[in-house]
Amino acid sequence: MNKNAAIKAGTIVITTMLTVCSAIECYFDLDGTVEVRDASVPMLRMEDVLGAHSGGNRWEWDNISGFNGVYDAGNVFGLSENESGAGGEDTLPQGDENDTSAENGSGDGNELSGENDEDLPQWEPSGEYDPSINLLVLVNKEYPVDENYVPADLVKLNYCAADRSAEWQVMTREAADAFNKMAGDALAEGYEIVATTAYRSYNFQNYLYNSYVEREGQAAADTFSARPGKSEHQTGLAADVTSASVNYRLISDFGDTEEGKWLAENCYKYGFIMRYQKGKEDITGYIYEPWHVRYVGQKAAKEIWERDLTLEEYLGKMPSWLENSDIDAEKSE
Ligand code: DAL
Ligand code: ZN
Repeated sequence: MNKNAAIKAGTIVITTMLTVCSAIECYFDLDGTVEVRDASVPMLRMEDVLGAHSGGNRWEWDNISGFNGVYDAGNVFGLSENESGAGGEDTLPQGDENDTSAENGSGDGNELSGENDEDLPQWEPSGEYDPSINLLVLVNKEYPVDENYVPADLVKLNYCAADRSAEWQVMTREAADAFNKMAGDALAEGYEIVATTAYRSYNFQNYLYNSYVEREGQAAADTFSARPGKSEHQTGLAADVTSASVNYRLISDFGDTEEGKWLAENCYKYGFIMRYQKGKEDITGYIYEPWHVRYVGQKAAKEIWERDLTLEEYLGKMPSWLENSDIDAEKSE
């Protein structure tokens, strides 16, 4: 082939490729892979995942009284993992009665679920529960979970958003049983609630967090997304829940829907707590998330509900940035 013929052939190939590419788009799957698909096939796009925290709800966390101030006091933002002002942020608490590492869990709460209060709903376990799982494990910005930790007994949930990856719609068996009972009872009362993601691996959380950072910047991402190793989703005890009434999105409006209200008022009966409450942002370190529930077992959930506590308050593990601000306040008096 001479030079002109080669250029002509190359041009034809490139033109054909451009024509084909105009009919397809790149999609980010929830498992972190990027796939090229026919644009006419409906798929969950990355924007949909990220969109949960953008748009009309984006401004709400800027307006939460005291929230930004706490972050300034805590020096949480803008620091690398090792220079965090939180003090010991990357160290698992070890070897005392308050040990809350997922790996070294004492099994607190396991024996209580489903049996402690006759007024609460009861259900049959679907199988044997892993006794090594500490239902009261604290995972937050200061108490990480090991990068390699994967719960041993993850099982599929029965009530899931259809357009999300099934890989992350699993919880530890005990939490899954409770979730299924809760979602089933909700449905029987006319409220359809489904999980978008529950257990998330370290790597998936890493992918999600970095996607948010890329899109919104690290300071914003840190208000709604846990850094890898700092998400309680990795314990298999947390789930994000939504409903058709908010188009299966994770937005603060969910808290005002009938389903969101049912969840907030009833989840404790099944052993779940609303982990990131309105007005408690300075303690949890995250914006109000009416979609994020955490399984702690029925006894603890009831106490937390009745006393209107965060998990941090219940466990007596207040964030160090609040302790620091108290010290600063005393000094200035
Ligand atoms: N949205 C919560 C904080 C998480 O990413 O685990
Ligand atoms: Zn969540």
